[in-house]
Amino acid sequence: MKEDHTVEVMQKKVAIIGLGFVGLPLSMMFVRKGFHVIGIDYDSRKISAIQQGKSYIQDLSDSDIAEAVQSGRWQVSADYAALSGADTVIICVPTPLSPDNSPDLSYLTDTCSRLAPLLTPGQLVVIESSTYPGTTREVVLPLLEKSGLRIGQQLYLGYSPERIDPGNKSISFSDIPKIISGITADCERKLYAVYSQVFEQVVTVSTTEAAETAKLLENSYRFINISFINEFAQLCDRLNVNVWEVIKAAATKPYGFSAFYPGPGVGGHCIPVDPLYLQWKAAQAGITSRFIELSQQVNDSLPAYLADRIEQELPGRKRLAGARILVYGVTYKPDIADVRESAALPIINTLLHRGAAVDYHDPYIPHIKLEDGSKLQGIELTGERLKQADCVLICMNHEVMPGDLIIKHSRFIFDTRHSLSVNPADHPITGKLVTFGDGTTIG
Ligand SMILES: NC(=O)c1ccc[n+]([C@@H]2O[C@H](COP(=O)([O-])OP(=O)(O)OC[C@H]3O[C@@H](n4cnc5c(N)ncnc54)[C@H](O)[C@@H]3O)[C@@H](O)[C@H]2O)c1
Repeated sequence: MKEDHTVEVMQKKVAIIGLGFVGLPLSMMFVRKGFHVIGIDYDSRKISAIQQGKSYIQDLSDSDIAEAVQSGRWQVSADYAALSGADTVIICVPTPLSPDNSPDLSYLTDTCSRLAPLLTPGQLVVIESSTYPGTTREVVLPLLEKSGLRIGQQLYLGYSPERIDPGNKSISFSDIPKIISGITADCERKLYAVYSQVFEQVVTVSTTEAAETAKLLENSYRFINISFINEFAQLCDRLNVNVWEVIKAAATKPYGFSAFYPGPGVGGHCIPVDPLYLQWKAAQAGITSRFIELSQQVNDSLPAYLADRIEQELPGRKRLAGARILVYGVTYKPDIADVRESAALPIINTLLHRGAAVDYHDPYIPHIKLEDGSKLQGIELTGERLKQADCVLICMNHEVMPGDLIIKHSRFIFDTRHSLSVNPADHPITGKLVTFGDGTTIG
């Protein structure tokens, strides 16, 4: 890592392309730090929402958006022409998987192709989308140089992985250390000049590949550890040991142990996706990560495991075929309206395959798309609905989850997240409660 940077001339006009879970909070932060920000998103619904002072992500309120718009330092548009005059262009577009689990860089390459003809000498372009090592140099650089401008001479390019954690209220965005890297030393200096004005700590690495890989290491680490604890929970289920108690005890060790917790599976746009970007790149070099492969297998096997456990525990020795299951929470993490790669979706599809009738309730998600392409509409959560279900399956524990209502009316609750810590004296449950990895049954 290098230190002792010469801070370049203050750069104060930033364009941010892709105003989603990453780009919107990032825009707000730049505005708050006194920058002029031009936001570009080809989804015109997002552009009109911002212009009307409406937020479409939970971490930001309508008044946050309205205040930033009223500052006069935030313009948004669906038209790339609006970004002319920006000193820096930051790209935060999606990097999902293709159906064959290989990287889908189409959003990124599309953005670069639209951007290239508009670039002007002296501009800095930064990629923040998560991606495999080599993307910035091998994919982005040639597309941007179609502008006729040479990277490191008339145009500057770098990579800075985005580490935001939507819904996390314990750390402010600007306090998350920001990793930066440039294609050349001048590129790196340009990134430092911009990001050091916004983030408390800037961490410079020597190549864009190192910065790209750091992000993939962070998310592979989470993927492997969460998959491990989910396998461990299955083991505890069998051994009649309470995994939650075991983790709590192990976590008292002051060094050498980081707690991870069981759940219905790994979800989201990052954790189950980024390790496969790494795996794909490794395969190009003739190597593969067996840890990632195994974690994927464990993760993929969870829906079948959970369906089996529910069937074993269904009151009255009922089978899943013909049973009515009500799922609470279908997002990939609490209090975030995002179902991308959510573990609840393969579980619901598995239950349907096994002949169960499935309803769901999620305060943030009005409907979901099933594997066969059909739409499943969410239902209201009422005492009557809970009573009618043979099993209430908790896949996600949103802060607003009405635990008491669920406990009071459900005949059988299967809790994958240890979200109902029930003291029978405080909450006499009428039915039965099984917690994933708990090894015991209440009721
Ligand atoms: N969501 C997270 O928690 C998170 C955290 C860290 C990193 N990341 C990474 O950041 C990147 C963005 O993720 P996100 O969650 O913000 O995605 P998102 O889908 O919420 O937002 C992306 C936005 O980009 C827009 N877009 C796509 N292609 C475009 C184009 N060519 N021109 C203009 N706009 C375009 C979309 O309309 C969308 O609004 C991904 O690479 C992701 O892996 C996400």
